[in-house]
Amino acid sequence: MLIIPNIELRLSFCLDSLFYLNPSISTGIKQKDITNLKCFLDKETCVPTIKSHMTKQTLGLENHIYQYLLSVSIREPDILKKLREETANHPRNIMQISPEQGQFMALLVQLMGAKKALDIGVFTGYSSLVVALALPPAGKMVACDVSEEYTSIARRYWEQAGIADKIDLHIAPAIATLDKLITEGETDSFDFAFIDADKSSYDDYYERALKLIRPGGLIAIDNVLWSGRVADSQIDDNRTKKIRALNKKIHQDDRVTISMVPIGDGLTLARKRE
Ligand SMILES: C[S@@+](CC[C@H](N)C(=O)[O-])C[C@H]1O[C@@H](n2cnc3c(N)ncnc32)[C@H](O)[C@@H]1O
Repeated sequence: MLIIPNIELRLSFCLDSLFYLNPSISTGIKQKDITNLKCFLDKETCVPTIKSHMTKQTLGLENHIYQYLLSVSIREPDILKKLREETANHPRNIMQISPEQGQFMALLVQLMGAKKALDIGVFTGYSSLVVALALPPAGKMVACDVSEEYTSIARRYWEQAGIADKIDLHIAPAIATLDKLITEGETDSFDFAFIDADKSSYDDYYERALKLIRPGGLIAIDNVLWSGRVADSQIDDNRTKKIRALNKKIHQDDRVTISMVPIGDGLTLARKRE
């Protein structure tokens, strides 16, 4: 069994960090070990896995209704379908957004005439690809992730789709990347931001995105319903508390106009006031 000294593994914060840990910056800990360790801990501590906190399809719809929705509405380009099919075999496939959510975000991006976007949490690339395809040919995206491994898949699909030159990928903690953009004078310059990285930093991402987005620009925040856990007062793990607190904060935040849309795992739309 893997032994990591001096780490209190039972804290849900650590589970969160371990789940997202980039094997290339760990000291010899392999992704496989983390997966195995996590399974062990989950049995041991009864802490539910992140898998049970996310959903890859719109919450609460009966399956036959969901299938009907897909059958009469999804117009997924082949490249996105191929990426979704490849990601379905990935052990973390539950992290990918659903095709109906991707299509909805692409529609928003087109409605806004967005030219510059932020993707915070890339994984294998579905959200970045669907948004980048919706940007005009001269459009630009800054994409943030900590994992070379996950984003190597994303990069392959960006190349195949012919949109790789639109995307500037930063492999670093997203807070550092966003702070760098702010320092470099990119405040008020982005049209659209999608927040979908580690949940414990969501508020930090929201505050930074709010600076980087232009007045009238849109921030979309994923997993705001967190498989319904936010609505269950018995649940008080760190990630659920963070999402619940951010939902409450945005509800009262008069810097933005908002809508919480029950698509996927819940998507808050926050438009920066002019
Ligand atoms: C839910 S997945 C993103 C899914 C993606 N939006 C999609 O549509 O497939 C979350 C991603 O956030 C990344 N991540 C975790 N912690 C991070 C951090 N501190 N900074 C940047 N990215 C992080 C993970 O490596 C993972 O790829």
